[in-house]
Amino acid sequence: MKKHFSYLYLVTVCFFVTTFTLFGQNPSTHPSRKALLKIIDQNFIDAAQQYKVLMNHLPQDKFPKTYFPTTGQYQFSGSEWWCSGFYPGSLLYIYQQTQDSVLLKEANRILNILEKEKFNTTTHDLGFMMFCSFGNAKDIAPKPTHKDILIQSAKSLASRFNPTVGCIKSWDSHNNDYLVIIDNMMNLELLFWATQATGDSSYYNIAVTHANTTMKHHFRSDFSSYHVINYNAQTGDVQQKRTAQGYANESAWARGQAWGLYGYTVMYRATQNPMYLEQAKNIARFILKHPNLPTNKIPYWDFNAPNIPDALRDASAAAVMASALLELSTYVNNSLKKEYISNAEEMLFALSKPPYKAKIGTNGGFLIEHCVGHIPEKTEIDVPLTYADYYFLEAMKRYQALQK
Ligand code: GLY
Repeated sequence: MKKHFSYLYLVTVCFFVTTFTLFGQNPSTHPSRKALLKIIDQNFIDAAQQYKVLMNHLPQDKFPKTYFPTTGQYQFSGSEWWCSGFYPGSLLYIYQQTQDSVLLKEANRILNILEKEKFNTTTHDLGFMMFCSFGNAKDIAPKPTHKDILIQSAKSLASRFNPTVGCIKSWDSHNNDYLVIIDNMMNLELLFWATQATGDSSYYNIAVTHANTTMKHHFRSDFSSYHVINYNAQTGDVQQKRTAQGYANESAWARGQAWGLYGYTVMYRATQNPMYLEQAKNIARFILKHPNLPTNKIPYWDFNAPNIPDALRDASAAAVMASALLELSTYVNNSLKKEYISNAEEMLFALSKPPYKAKIGTNGGFLIEHCVGHIPEKTEIDVPLTYADYYFLEAMKRYQALQK
């Protein structure tokens, strides 16, 4: 009996030690891998239902932007809005998991409307718009036209590169202002693909130059990033470092940190240059070790928001971070791998339940609640947003793939 008891005791202690070592926190709040995988399976089934709700409310030729749960009103956009690629991209991710042909039909319908943006040279957001949509389509439900659409999109994006500044221009402005935002790192993946598809290295070189210039000027010594750098278009000198969507010029806007993390992870994937891996790891450290990162890992909309702990959370930032951390975990040593996966698991777990995961039939058909678009502009505050859904779906796909 005594021997039996000691054995049981030993097994229990081992279980807790292993769990603590793996996850570095209270095991009762951390989902097991098996449990999370089950939750993810259900999330995709629910997502198919939710996106049919969204689809049925969409006016012809419009794209979903957000929904206001208190009034039941939707906001839609045209195809030129920076988020127009996320709806078709999400439909394709859900279709890939569920094989629900209704979603594929809807994805193809909306892709046809989006296609004309391949000629849009007034925005840096073509990566978001065209690679999250047609980029996914070429892999999930390919058509012969996808390649040309993406190459034309890359050409349009590359037309915004200024070699004196060493960056793609994010926002058009006046005089000598040349505005570049950290979000722009997300558009480079399209350029790497274009070099692979065409053999033309100019796209690759633009992406690398843009990332190097951004590394030099956008980041502080703690590896947090500014949102906007205003370069002099004639000389390339930095004229101003500031925010647009964050709390203050010197604060760390949460989604901006997420874009940087994701962007430099892609840079490492595309170039295998260890400098970018270090950058991504440093950004991850800033995020994950930040004293203002809440225990459920859904960040406040700005790491320096003035009213923490009462500040709004931004679920979209968590979705982007989770997806990026899961990819980054495949490039690092075992201890970092465990840390990144564990944090991503917590983010996914939190996003998979209230108050973040919407009940079926609510939230206008969007999957995720409580995102923050642009507080200084007083728009899209504490609402669903298409990119939260998109990166949530992507992160879940990545998590599933990692377990195989
Ligand atoms: N400017 C893109 C974003 O809101 O993250």
